[in-house]
Amino acid sequence: MDNIKSIVLVREGSAERAFVLKDQPCPAPSAGQVLIAVEAFGLNFADIMARKGLYRDRPPLPTVLGYDVVGRISAIGSGVTRLKPGQRVTAMTRFGGYSQYAVTQEPAAAVIPEDMDAGVALALTTQYCTAWYAAEECVRLQPGEQVLVHAAAGGVGTALVQMALRRGAIVYGTAGSEQKLQALKTAGVHHPIAYRERDWDQQIRKRCGDRGLDVVWDSVGGTTFRKSLALLGAGGRIVAYGASSLSDASNSFQRSLRGLAFGLYHPVRFLMPSQALIGVNMLRIGDERPEVLERCLREVVACTAAGDLRPHVGGYFDAKDIAKAHTFLESRKSSGKVAVHWT
Ligand SMILES: NC(=O)c1ccc[n+]([C@@H]2O[C@H](COP(=O)([O-])OP(=O)(O)OC[C@H]3O[C@@H](n4cnc5c(N)ncnc54)[C@H](OP(=O)(O)O)[C@@H]3O)[C@@H](O)[C@H]2O)c1
Repeated sequence: MDNIKSIVLVREGSAERAFVLKDQPCPAPSAGQVLIAVEAFGLNFADIMARKGLYRDRPPLPTVLGYDVVGRISAIGSGVTRLKPGQRVTAMTRFGGYSQYAVTQEPAAAVIPEDMDAGVALALTTQYCTAWYAAEECVRLQPGEQVLVHAAAGGVGTALVQMALRRGAIVYGTAGSEQKLQALKTAGVHHPIAYRERDWDQQIRKRCGDRGLDVVWDSVGGTTFRKSLALLGAGGRIVAYGASSLSDASNSFQRSLRGLAFGLYHPVRFLMPSQALIGVNMLRIGDERPEVLERCLREVVACTAAGDLRPHVGGYFDAKDIAKAHTFLESRKSSGKVAVHWT
C-alpha cells in the first residue's frame, strides 16, 4: 500500500508546536493483528501527559500517539480468527492511533453497528473499558453503596457515573466548573461537588456521615487521593487510576511535591479498617491480560448497543486541527469524549 498520513509528535511542549502531519509507510499486520482503515481517532488525557513528556510508557520521539480508533478492517495477520476484512470496528491501539491506518491485536478490537456514531464508538475503548474494569471487575458494587467519582464529567468519569448508577449506587461526583456540575446533575449524580473548593471533602463528610464512603475512583491523585482515602468507611475500596494533578505542575520539584502528597502507607493502614487500594493500568492489562481487555470491550459495546450505557461526545475536530483538540482537552473545558476525524 502507498504511504499514509500520520500526525507525528516531534517535540514536547505546547500543542501548536508539538505535531507535524507526515507521510509514513503503512503498517502491516503481524501475526494476531488487524490493520484498520481509520475514520476517526480519540484523544485521552494520557495523550496530554505524553505530549508534555510526563508519560513513562510513551515511546521516544518522533512517535505517533493514540489509543483509540474507529474504522474498517482492511487486512488481517495470520492466526486472526474472529475478525474479517470489511468489518467496522472500534479498537484500542498501543500508540499509533493518530494515523489513517493503524494496527492492533485482535482482542483489542470489537465489531460495532454500522450506524454507531464514531465519537461514541471511540469512547468505548480506552475510557469505557478502563471504567468497566475499574467498576465491574475490580469493585463489586452493591445497590445503595455510596461512591465517589472524581473528574466525573470527563471521559472515564462519565462512564464510571453511568456504571455506578446502573448498579443502584448513591453517586457523589466532583467537577471543576459550574457548567460541569450542572451536567452531572442532569446525568443523575446525586451529589455534585465542586472540588476546587478547599473543603470539598468536608462537604462530602457532612452528607455521608461517619459511615463514610464505600468506593472512590480517583484519577486526580496527590492531595485529592489522600483526602479521598480519609473519607472511606469500613470495607471501602479506593481505585487509583490516574494522576492528572501532576500535569500542570510548573516544574519537576512541584511535581515531586504533588507526588508525595499521595502519602506513604503501611499495609496495616488498610488491614485494620478492611479497606482496599486498587491500582489500574489498562495498557498493562491489554499487554499481559488481553482476554480481560477483550471481555471489557465486548461488555461495553453490548451495553451501549442495548442503550444501558450512553457515551457522551464533548467535541469533534478535524485531523488538521489536532492542536486545537489537544488544547481543548488540556483546558479542562471538555466533557466526555474528544474525537478527531480524518476527512
Ligand atoms: N490507568 C489507566 O489505565 C487509565 C486509562 C484511561 C484514563 N486514565 C486516567 O484517567 C483520567 C481521565 O482521563 P480522560 O481521558 O477520561 O480525561 P478527562 O477526564 O476527559 O479529562 C481530564 C479531566 O481531569 C480533571 N482534572 C483534575 N485535575 C486536573 C488537573 N490538574 N489538570 C487537568 N485536568 C484535571 C479535569 O476535569 P475538571 O475540570 O472537572 O476537574 C479534566 O477535564 C486521567 O488522569 C487519565 O490519565 C487512566
